[in-house]
Amino acid sequence: MAAIDLRLRPARMPAYCRPNASAPMNPDARTDAPVQPAVARRLPWRLEDIPFDTIELPKIRGREDMMFLLGAASFIEFASDTYAGNLAEFFRDEPDIAAWLSQHWEPEEVQHGRALRAYVEAVWPEFEWQRAYDDFFVEYSKLCGTEGYESTCGLEMAARCVVETGTSTAYKAIRDFADEPVLVRLVEHIRSDEVRHYKHFLQFFDRYHAREKNSRLRVLRSLKNRLVESRHSDFEIGLWYAYRTRYPDERRDGKGFTTMQSRIARKVRDHYPAGQAIRMLLKPLRLPAFLSSMIQPMLSPIGLVIRQVLLR
Ligand SMILES: [Fe+2]
Ligand SMILES: [Fe+2]
Repeated sequence: MAAIDLRLRPARMPAYCRPNASAPMNPDARTDAPVQPAVARRLPWRLEDIPFDTIELPKIRGREDMMFLLGAASFIEFASDTYAGNLAEFFRDEPDIAAWLSQHWEPEEVQHGRALRAYVEAVWPEFEWQRAYDDFFVEYSKLCGTEGYESTCGLEMAARCVVETGTSTAYKAIRDFADEPVLVRLVEHIRSDEVRHYKHFLQFFDRYHAREKNSRLRVLRSLKNRLVESRHSDFEIGLWYAYRTRYPDERRDGKGFTTMQSRIARKVRDHYPAGQAIRMLLKPLRLPAFLSSMIQPMLSPIGLVIRQVLLR
C-alpha cells in the first residue's frame, strides 16, 4: 500500500497523558470559520497572498492524481485542530511552548488545510470538499481519540521532529513535481512552515534534553517509534475519501484505488529528498561532529531505507 507521511498526530497514548482524550473535539476543526484578525497577523503568509485566479489550469486540471493527493493533504492539515489542544496541554509546564503551539503552530497547520482546499476547489470545482471532509472526519476522529505521546516531554519533542521531517520533505517532493506555478508557490510556503516547525521542535527538544538527559539510545528509540508508527493510515484515509468523491462505486481494496496510491507514492519517491530527511532525523541525537562526518557516507543508503519507510 502506498502512502506519504503527512501525519501530524501521534499514534499511541499511554493512560497518564489522556487529560483531554474525552473532551469534545474542537468544533472549529470541522468548519471553515474565518481566521480571527489577531491570529491572521501572526501568520507568516496569508491565504490572500496566493493568486488563485492566476492558476494555469491547462497544466493541472487533467492531473487527477494531484486532486486526490492535495485533497487528502488538505483533510489532514485541516483536522489538526482536533488534537492540537492535547499537544499544548502536554507541554503546559513550559508556557511559551504551549503558547507557540496554540498561537503559531496550530493556526499555521490549519491554514495549510485551508489553502490546499482553496487550490483544489479552484482547479476542480466539482470536487465536493466539505462532503468528502465530513466523511473523512468520521473515520479520522476515531484515530485521534487514541493519539499518544512519548514518555517525557523531551522525547516527545524528538518525535515531533520526525513528524515535521516527514511533512517538510514530502512537501518538498510535491513542490518539485507540481509544475503549476501557483501550486509551486503555495507548496513552498507550506514546506517552509514545516521546516520552521521542525526547527522550533528541535530547539524545544534541546531545552528539555538539558533537564532530562535522555541517553542517545532512548532518543533513538523515540525517533524510531514515531518513524515506524507512521503507519500512513491518515494519508490512506484522506486519499480514500478524496478518491471516493470521483469514484463513488469503487472499493477501498479495489484495483483502481490501490493503483492510484502506488502511482502517487512512486511520484513522490522519485522526488523525495532522502538525504535531507536522514540529516533532519539524526539531529536530535546530537552526535559529535566527528561521528556525524563518519556516517556521512552512509547517508545515502540509510536515506533510501527512510524513503522506503515513509513512502512504502
Ligand atoms: Fe502542515
Ligand atoms: Fe508542521
